[in-house]
Amino acid sequence: MTSPGETSAQHETARQQSRTAWGIVAPGWYAQREELWKASRPVSEWMVRRLNSQPGDTVLELAAGLGDTGFIAARLVGESGRVIITDFAPEMLAAARRRARELGVKNAEFRVLDAERMDLQTDSVDGVLCRWAYMLMIDPTAAFAETRRVLRPGGRLAFSVWAARERNPALSLVGRVLESQGHIPPPEPGAPSAFAMADPGRIRELAVGAGFAEPEVEEVSFRLSFADQESYWRYLTETSASASPVLRALSPEAQNTVREQVHEAARPFRSGEGYDFPAVCLNVVTH
Ligand SMILES: C[S@@+](CC[C@H](N)C(=O)[O-])C[C@H]1O[C@@H](n2cnc3c(N)ncnc32)[C@H](O)[C@@H]1O
Repeated sequence: MTSPGETSAQHETARQQSRTAWGIVAPGWYAQREELWKASRPVSEWMVRRLNSQPGDTVLELAAGLGDTGFIAARLVGESGRVIITDFAPEMLAAARRRARELGVKNAEFRVLDAERMDLQTDSVDGVLCRWAYMLMIDPTAAFAETRRVLRPGGRLAFSVWAARERNPALSLVGRVLESQGHIPPPEPGAPSAFAMADPGRIRELAVGAGFAEPEVEEVSFRLSFADQESYWRYLTETSASASPVLRALSPEAQNTVREQVHEAARPFRSGEGYDFPAVCLNVVTH
């Protein structure tokens, strides 16, 4: 049996590894920012619309990456309000600062912050945004409890997670290929992963368990398109914190085999020289 001390040491190691992996892909996210944002914008627009922020509000974005979702909210809260853009990877936060300068966002603060233990006061924010991250957290129960704590009573939480693996081939194909080649084990049930909250029952369990109201869950679909095979491969190797370290560690021969198999598995989504993949998120609002 594992003792609580051992579990917390394992969690700490896993958290550190995750932070390092996200730090390594931060430049890739920044380099591909325009394409990623253009494709995924409807997901964020839904979140910000349902957050219903008012001028003067303080909005917290958790695990913000480049902060694009929070920057839409920044416009709504206006000069009298502010958004607090946070991420536990300092490299991501540095990229978000650059992004804010590019977009001319003036009412954003930036903080390195672990969503599982927030250095923020209780009831201190009016709304919380979190896109594509709760399911990656080592202890999501702690992250939801912390979100509830810092959000003022009645304040809204809007977040987005990925729907099932099969419905998100652009993200999941590479994992299947790496598994079939024995480069990674199959995902452990309940372990953090891109698809760990694809079940609305799990979303409800985490949200209601932390004291939130019954969440509203809505599917939001979009397309992830790549002009050619090379740009899809760059997306996998430069932005995926799970696949990229495994791919980079392979020998050139093994990497070529994986690459060929990924392109083979992606054949149904071929469009011109590249790909056009469906993508589906579960967007959630609660208070
Ligand atoms: C898939 S990216 C999403 C980035 C951004 N929210 C977006 O939608 O473009 C996941 C982000 O979660 C961050 N992250 C993961 N676990 C975290 C934690 N416990 N606390 C804060 N940030 C975390 C990573 O550093 C990374 O920037």
